[in-house]
Amino acid sequence: MKQYLKLDEWSIIEESFDPATHEISESIFSIGNGFMGQRANFEEQYSGKSLQGSYMAGVYYPDKTRVGWWKNGYPEYFAKVLNSTNWIGINVFIDGNVLDLAKCGVKDFVRELNMKEGTLSRRFVAVFEDGKEVQVEAVRFVSVKRHEIGAIRYAVTPLNFSGTIKLVPYLDGDVQNKDSNYEEKFWLEVEKEAAADISYLTLKTKKLDFHVTSVMSFDIFKNGTKLDIQPVISECEKYVSAEAAVEANQGETVAIYKYVANVTSRNFGLGELVTEGKKLLEEAKAAGFDALLQEQIAGWADKWKESDIIIEGDVSAQQAIRFNIFQLNQTYDGSDDRLNIGPKGFTGEKYGGSTYWDTEAYCVPFYLSTADSSIARNLLIYRYKHLEKAKENARKLGFPKGALYPMVTMNGEECHNEWEITFEEIHRNGAIAYAIYNYVNYTGDKAYLSQYGLEVLAEISRFWEMRVNWSEAKGKYVMLGVTGPNEYENNVNNNWYTNRIAAWTMEYTLEVLDYLKANENARYLELVDKLKLQDEETAQWRHIIANMYYPVDEERGIFLQQDGFLDKEILPVKELAPENLPLNQNWSWDRILRSCYIKQADVLQGLYFLGDRYDLETKKRNFDFYEPITVHESSLSPCLHAIIACELGYQEKAYEMYLRTARLDLDNYNNDTEDGCHTTSMAGTWMSIIQGFGGLRAANDELVLRPFIPSHWTSFSFKVMFRNSRLNVSVTDENITVTNETDVPAAIRIYDNSYTVAGNGEIKVERASLAAK
Ligand code: BGC
Repeated sequence: MKQYLKLDEWSIIEESFDPATHEISESIFSIGNGFMGQRANFEEQYSGKSLQGSYMAGVYYPDKTRVGWWKNGYPEYFAKVLNSTNWIGINVFIDGNVLDLAKCGVKDFVRELNMKEGTLSRRFVAVFEDGKEVQVEAVRFVSVKRHEIGAIRYAVTPLNFSGTIKLVPYLDGDVQNKDSNYEEKFWLEVEKEAAADISYLTLKTKKLDFHVTSVMSFDIFKNGTKLDIQPVISECEKYVSAEAAVEANQGETVAIYKYVANVTSRNFGLGELVTEGKKLLEEAKAAGFDALLQEQIAGWADKWKESDIIIEGDVSAQQAIRFNIFQLNQTYDGSDDRLNIGPKGFTGEKYGGSTYWDTEAYCVPFYLSTADSSIARNLLIYRYKHLEKAKENARKLGFPKGALYPMVTMNGEECHNEWEITFEEIHRNGAIAYAIYNYVNYTGDKAYLSQYGLEVLAEISRFWEMRVNWSEAKGKYVMLGVTGPNEYENNVNNNWYTNRIAAWTMEYTLEVLDYLKANENARYLELVDKLKLQDEETAQWRHIIANMYYPVDEERGIFLQQDGFLDKEILPVKELAPENLPLNQNWSWDRILRSCYIKQADVLQGLYFLGDRYDLETKKRNFDFYEPITVHESSLSPCLHAIIACELGYQEKAYEMYLRTARLDLDNYNNDTEDGCHTTSMAGTWMSIIQGFGGLRAANDELVLRPFIPSHWTSFSFKVMFRNSRLNVSVTDENITVTNETDVPAAIRIYDNSYTVAGNGEIKVERASLAAK
């Protein structure tokens, strides 16, 4: 872990250039707008180590699965988010010498991600071998208002000479995915044209026929005056460029404004790509860089109005939480229900940019509370649309009915190829059911149940019904051969969490059926018919709920992670010599699987989801047993522990866990940020403040708060949307103030007292007196 970024409340700042941390910075300083994302690669040529990444949301490649030994049921491919046309490129030559920071000296380097405004900028002085020095200032953004548009301002000033500055903006589609299974290139050229005013390049994927057209245009200015230049254009395979040479005296600034539109066949017909791309580009260019920038600033101001968290007294924590919120808002804006949130967002290739249970378990709460409820609803509808595929997936594995959602997917098909995850980590089905409950409980949108929810719940319940079996020996239903959220043990029997979430899904499905029968009878009958739901099935679910087997240790008063857990040698992590950690980089997989060490919350995941069904003592006993043997080697782990620690009043532990989640990428805790940021766990960071320190829950149509302040902070405040009102909750040592920023009244409970915050009203309560109760 190396801390090299400067602390600042609104920006991420790097104040010197170090090739050793460049790939980490490329991840951290990524920009995106939900439709495209761009790693912080340099515009100019860079021959040092770099992970190129220009991603178009929803454009992926089914890369043929690579495994040592094929097993029946394996998916054919692993979906990859595609590195597509490099649209940011601008080669720079100074008197014929290429500007390349791997080869030039670099002075006064500053890179800044301005999270308030949504821009990435860079400033440096490059020193060439012949002693010539140029200053470069570059700013770029992908527009949050115009989803296809990216804009760059790149300015070069000769500092100690007069000479020729040649700028070569280009579009380069000859790119590769680093994680390509067979080192294959995934793109074919369709058409291109390089021209003085507008150039374009259309590529299509070798499989699935995704088309992406990138269109570019540019203007060049010297000392603020636009130049009338006839660029030299050129083309080659998957590449178009234009070349403009400008004579500049010492101190004169030559600036290029490069505008790009990236359009994909996901949103436009094949015959329209070039015309639509050109149209969008021309509109953006006509507006001009400054106007686009103003739009960008206004767009981000709106996002911050809904989701900002302010922490007083701790810049490091403030910067970290804003970074997490910023990356989440850059990744998904909810306006397209075909899209989802990959564990690395648009910041790297790892995890293929695909959808995991992370979305339902971690991201849904973030979008529920920080955006209009239609956004979280779209995330749910995404799974509804994949229901048929989930049913096919269950059939493929041999189940005559029910739906098994994939562990990893782009289009509803499973595309993960480790048997212990694909076949066994079936708890993901439970998280998808839980998200429906969570959404309806939080928003009150019960109509969702009859529109979409019940069908998903019923098919998941059917899957659980098929997956359990009756154990004569135990006189109970058991679930054999599973992997729980803790991927550090596989093929275990009766993972408590999986059994619990399975039974809970059936319970909730029955509850929803009862509700619909009583309240929307006609639709209920229609759905029962559509699902061909039999009374024997619901009776069987009841029987399973009543007779599910749960491993417990009576003596310790804890739930057991799985049947054989106590056969393991239990030794707290703190007694391991530090050189063992992280285990996944230092131990054989075999050793990890046999050990007691837990990758991420497992039993505790269940106690978190079903928190209202377990008392504090039960939570405490389980936390005290499991946390000391948890290594938190999944980024999804510390946040959940922070939330439960808050509930238990373990303030120091909560803060320790919070720091680990909040600055995971900024401080490269897991030594893997160069692969991309841990985007889905960023939602967990948000949860650890709101649900942890804020103690926020939704129950009985009220928003419940039980806040405390970590001793390192003087105050904190956060925004939350609840039932069409937006509240600003501010917590100081003395008071809790809730300000309603809308005209819709809100019902809230603070500790055990209920209040109504009138539209545009405010309530202030004394914390000490309430907390003490
Ligand atoms: C975790 C999974 C998670 C995946 C993607 C893994 O390391 O164990 O729970 O879904 O990462 O974030």
